[in-house]
Amino acid sequence: MYLKKLSLTNFRSYQELSLEFQSGLTIFTGDNAQGKTNILEAIYLLSVAKSHRTNRDREMIHLERDYAKIEAEVATKSFDFNLEIVLNNRGKIAKFNHIEQPKLSHFIGKMHAIMFAPEDMQLIKGSPSLRRRFIDVELGQASPIYLSELLDYNRILKQRNAYLREFGRSSIFDQIYFDILTEQLIEKSLIIIENRVKFVIALEELAIPIHRDLSNQRDDLSVEYIPNSKRLDYTQLETLKDQFYVLFSESLEQEKNRRTTLYGPHRDDLKLSINGQEAQQFGSQGQQRTIVLSLKLAETELIYQLTNEYPILLLDDVLSELDDNRQHILMNHIKDKVQTILTTATIEGLKVHQMEHAEIYEVTKGFVTNLNGKKGS
Ligand SMILES: Nc1ncnc2c1ncn2[C@@H]1O[C@H](COP(=O)(O)OP(=O)(O)OP(=O)(O)O)[C@@H](O)[C@H]1O
Ligand SMILES: [Mg+2]
Repeated sequence: MYLKKLSLTNFRSYQELSLEFQSGLTIFTGDNAQGKTNILEAIYLLSVAKSHRTNRDREMIHLERDYAKIEAEVATKSFDFNLEIVLNNRGKIAKFNHIEQPKLSHFIGKMHAIMFAPEDMQLIKGSPSLRRRFIDVELGQASPIYLSELLDYNRILKQRNAYLREFGRSSIFDQIYFDILTEQLIEKSLIIIENRVKFVIALEELAIPIHRDLSNQRDDLSVEYIPNSKRLDYTQLETLKDQFYVLFSESLEQEKNRRTTLYGPHRDDLKLSINGQEAQQFGSQGQQRTIVLSLKLAETELIYQLTNEYPILLLDDVLSELDDNRQHILMNHIKDKVQTILTTATIEGLKVHQMEHAEIYEVTKGFVTNLNGKKGS
């Protein structure tokens, strides 16, 4: 699929911006703080209904305005559709083909986009919650059912934690009620874990050869979804239900003391290793960047396998950090099949052989000028 048109109203530094895109490569260039990333952020927001760099939606509304609107026209192999998000003081309104969606989960994943931004390096260095979020966001784009199961899981977890917090050590602890919550939690855990395990196995399979190419055949990547307890074994999914029942019954006292749910997918992690060594501890900056890039490219393939459409690839300021060889491999990978929209401070030195076909825009103080001859607005 590809983005054909984008219109912004009061989004970040843009009061009005209207752009048309081609299905190949688009480059936004310009000095720092001119508004390049803002454009990618708006596109990404249409895909997962969340910014890649803030949890506070208000930040995305122009400072002197009280609402922001992002509109897009998207083309797929079989039909075109329209997306719209309005941000205001009351929250978010999301429309698909001009019809307001009752739940954001109905809107998420209509347009698939994969973002690779500097923030994504945290995928390796940051906390497990960021790696879980990576899985959830990507899986959620491809599978709306997963998203609704995850919301259910989080709701039950919240209830169970609230009960432990309130009555953990009290004499009116209602074991029967608590067991029902535990049972519901385990049921949802099994669904979440099974989906995540399958996703990670498929992602790993696609990422390994990409990563070998990007590392000049030097490094073997491994990606593994791991539980936060040594007593759980996710390679044995058939027995997982029993494993959880035993673990929860034996940890009841500990959970009452700690007043929170100690085991389950809300505490799991993604383990990334190169040649058997954990990337977080041993990987160099360059190696870590190569891993993230491999995962993102593997995701574009995975989304294609699942939906028969390539997602839109958004690359924020990452190209200049890659050496010539990696830039080549990256561009070869997306050639002619993945719409790619990227930002870079300067186009000098970029070894992008599709450059001659690229649509190039210069961004200056929130104004966008087409350098191929046409004027943007
Ligand atoms: N809500 C907002 N209202 C008005 N302006 C905003 C708002 N949020 C951000 N900006 C402005 O947008 C600009 C930053 O835009 P952006 O992050 O897209 O820059 P950039 O071109 O990607 O820069 P860099 O090359 O440093 O990454 C800043 O000048 C900032 O003041
Ligand atoms: Mg930027």
